[in-house]
Amino acid sequence: MEKTLVLIKPDAFAQGHCGDILKMYEREGFKICAAKVLTMDKKIAASHYVEHIGRPYYDGLVEFMTSAPLMALVIGGENVIKRVREINGATNPANAAEGTVRKLYAENGSKNAVHASDSPESAAREIKIYFSELEIVED
Ligand code: CDP
Ligand code: MG
Repeated sequence: MEKTLVLIKPDAFAQGHCGDILKMYEREGFKICAAKVLTMDKKIAASHYVEHIGRPYYDGLVEFMTSAPLMALVIGGENVIKRVREINGATNPANAAEGTVRKLYAENGSKNAVHASDSPESAAREIKIYFSELEIVED
């Protein structure tokens, strides 16, 4: 089964949107394969956002992502990597389609409610940051 790494970011987590966001994935038939609540530290943030180190928004992004608890999830199903990014919507809610997670819950293009892996390679790399094999269920 294809898997993707989702984060319900500190903004959406604090506002109590986890249940509604999970429902948006589950009603598409996707499965929750792993879940945990944690607060990121700078080291996890640097590992997760390694491709963004040095970008102008990086320090603000780390500040936000380490500021409060978030929920990490492994979501599984057919074509889940592409579909979850579609369900989440564009990075900036101003550009996100109606009914997407970011249109509904994101404040701006930084505090934007959710993360999802963008490729099979990213998914494999990102899942390992948060979960051991024992913590992930198959089907
Ligand atoms: O999350 P997504 O893959 O849609 O976007 P990204 O371009 O990979 O950027 C990763 C994250 O960095 C975004 O989700 C934002 O939280 C943050 N970001 C930002 O704060 N300001 C930007 N100009 C671009 C991204
Ligand atoms: Mg990205």
